[in-house]
Amino acid sequence: MKVVITGASSGLGLALARHYLERGATVAACARRSELLQSLAAEFPGKVFCYALDVRDIAALQHAAEDFMARVGVPDIVIANAGVSRGTLTEYAEDLDAFQQVIDINVLGMVKTFQPFLAAMRAAALTPSPSDETISHSTKPASGQVAGYPRGRGGHFTLVGIASVAGFRGLPGSGAYSASKAAAISYLESLRVELHGSGVNVVTLCPGYIKTPMTDVNTYPMPFILEADEAARRMARVIESGKSFAVVPWQMGMVGWLLKCLPNWLYDFAFSKAPHKSRKTSI
Ligand SMILES: NC(=O)c1ccc[n+]([C@@H]2O[C@H](COP(=O)([O-])OP(=O)(O)OC[C@H]3O[C@@H](n4cnc5c(N)ncnc54)[C@H](OP(=O)(O)O)[C@@H]3O)[C@@H](O)[C@H]2O)c1
Repeated sequence: MKVVITGASSGLGLALARHYLERGATVAACARRSELLQSLAAEFPGKVFCYALDVRDIAALQHAAEDFMARVGVPDIVIANAGVSRGTLTEYAEDLDAFQQVIDINVLGMVKTFQPFLAAMRAAALTPSPSDETISHSTKPASGQVAGYPRGRGGHFTLVGIASVAGFRGLPGSGAYSASKAAAISYLESLRVELHGSGVNVVTLCPGYIKTPMTDVNTYPMPFILEADEAARRMARVIESGKSFAVVPWQMGMVGWLLKCLPNWLYDFAFSKAPHKSRKTSI
């Protein structure tokens, strides 16, 4: 199995990388902190391809995708996990840059992660048969076919986006983060429907609280918090199951569902005093 993971230098991404590596996969580990990627590679000799990059940099992602596919082949799974969280308040001009960065990394970074792999995954999902002719770029392909690639059937390729329960409702003090995760959830749904029947599945994963450097700075209670290894194990199980959407842990799915059902007056009353994420966290 071949797996691409962004944000593989720490937290959930690192736990997902380890999960797949321990099961024999070859992993493309992407993040900015090269030294952390290299230490993961040292643990699993020959199995980790390190790409020190920023998910805002499409040229770097395209180069990484080309390099990985040339060396190893089309990945079975691409996990857009890289993300940042910081408290933001609209009234402060100095927070505008944080708004920009959170949206750029958490939303556009996800699109830029998938883009360089998608055509190759779609093509690989179509198993050629001897009688099949190549579909010309100039003719409109029928449903489930990609112009320029052979006709065929079936395949299991998966794009996974890590969103968040924070995207279910706007959390006070986390406008940028909540908006980015709500956007990620909608984007992933659009992509899933666009790829329906193509052989490329799209999975939306919404973590509740997971113990990682991102949450280590939080001073408020984090119900149902999971260790990163356990979260990775559960998420890999969801990916394998073929489900298109899951909240991990499931208890936070119930909380998220309840939050969605609350009328605005009750939600506003309940959350107006909720603790805010720190605005001091660096991105
Ligand atoms: N922990 C939770 O409770 C929780 C809950 C819901 C959702 N999530 C989501 O889960 C994902 C992983 O978060 P985490 O908790 O594991 O946090 P984390 O430990 O802070 O890890 C974040 C990862 O994203 C990478 N990253 C950040 N900005 C990047 C950029 N511009 N380019 C490339 N890589 C970048 C970081 O690597 P470098 O710094 O080396 O680039 C790091 O590997 C995020 O999308 C987060 O929003 C987490």
